[in-house]
Amino acid sequence: MRALRRVRQTWGSVWCRAWEGNEHQRTAQRAEGTRNLHICSALVYRQNGAHADVLRLERMALPPVDKHCVRLKILAAPVNPADINMLQGTYPIRPTFPAVGGNEGVGEVIEVGSDVTSLSPGDWAIPVGAGFGTWRTEAVCDASDIIKVPKDISLLGAATIGVNPCTAYRMLHDFQPLRPGDTVIQNGANSAVGQAVIQIAAALGVKTICIIRDRYDIELEWNCCRRAALFCHEILETESILLLAQEVPRPKLGLNCVGGPYKKLNKASQSIPKQKALIFKNIHLRGFWLTMWKRDNRKDPAKLQAMVASLCSLLQSGRLSLPRCVQVPFGDYRHALDMTQCAHQRKHVLLM
Ligand SMILES: NC(=O)c1ccc[n+]([C@@H]2O[C@H](COP(=O)([O-])OP(=O)(O)OC[C@H]3O[C@@H](n4cnc5c(N)ncnc54)[C@H](OP(=O)(O)O)[C@@H]3O)[C@@H](O)[C@H]2O)c1
Repeated sequence: MRALRRVRQTWGSVWCRAWEGNEHQRTAQRAEGTRNLHICSALVYRQNGAHADVLRLERMALPPVDKHCVRLKILAAPVNPADINMLQGTYPIRPTFPAVGGNEGVGEVIEVGSDVTSLSPGDWAIPVGAGFGTWRTEAVCDASDIIKVPKDISLLGAATIGVNPCTAYRMLHDFQPLRPGDTVIQNGANSAVGQAVIQIAAALGVKTICIIRDRYDIELEWNCCRRAALFCHEILETESILLLAQEVPRPKLGLNCVGGPYKKLNKASQSIPKQKALIFKNIHLRGFWLTMWKRDNRKDPAKLQAMVASLCSLLQSGRLSLPRCVQVPFGDYRHALDMTQCAHQRKHVLLM
């Protein structure tokens, strides 16, 4: 057991016991036959690279549930673009290896430590911060690393509420005071974040001008959001913008997911307004990273709880519907990761 070492993932606080090389496998096998030691299956990587090269499904022994800890059975976890970037090593979060992939998901509490009062067995919970390592069947974590979500929302809703809807929510609440009747403009509007922006804005009485890439099947995908967005233009040309400008108030906020504040998808499209516009039109530019917001507010969990409660209530009332997801059995993870890297794909969610 000397080779046993406790690895704390530097960017989060999920504890796992990891064994190096063959010792890992042998000890996991021994642990399977031992009482009170739980084994999980996890998608583990030990170096950065393409997922096909570095990600492996392994069995891993879980640490005991300390008095402040919780054991969670992960039910569903999506594959987000940032998860792929993390595997590749191109994301600002660098895990300590061996690391378990996946940042978002929902789990059911199976066991709680004697000091835990915020959660009970049977509760659903989602990770508080990034780097949880959700692509696994079970996890043991500190109770403060997860927050409870209601069980009367859909499983896929619970699994995908912690990143994209939260990003949309923060960008609509923190950048610019918005009032009913105001207008927001965004590109990549058919993305999961974009669809959440449309619906959360609509609940605030704010109109959205949405720009999406034109393609043959866009109608199908777009229908769910068309009713919430007041203006959708598949190709928004200068002429259309001028016409729109006469019909609606000038946008108070612009969200650029292609080369802007919350994502740089396309290097060629990183243009910023001319200095003249910044000065004489008083335009402000800023970036946003949900992970940093969550880190900055870690000591004030009430803020995260209020946001998640508000988003859950929109889900419950039907004012927020999630993008259509593809449910993928955990064992078919390679397919889910491959698909996430292809253009025009729906969100793929692993079911454990
Ligand atoms: N900063 C943050 O805190 C934060 C948080 C969450 C997400 N994000 C980022 O926000 C983006 C949206 O996330 P998501 O999960 O909602 O993604 P998603 O559902 O997979 O959608 C991706 C979107 O990007 C568009 N797109 C991809 N490549 C493009 C290109 N070269 N030019 C123009 N549009 C392009 C896609 O258009 P098509 O459908 O036409 O392919 C689609 O609308 C991702 O890049 C993600 O990493 C940032």
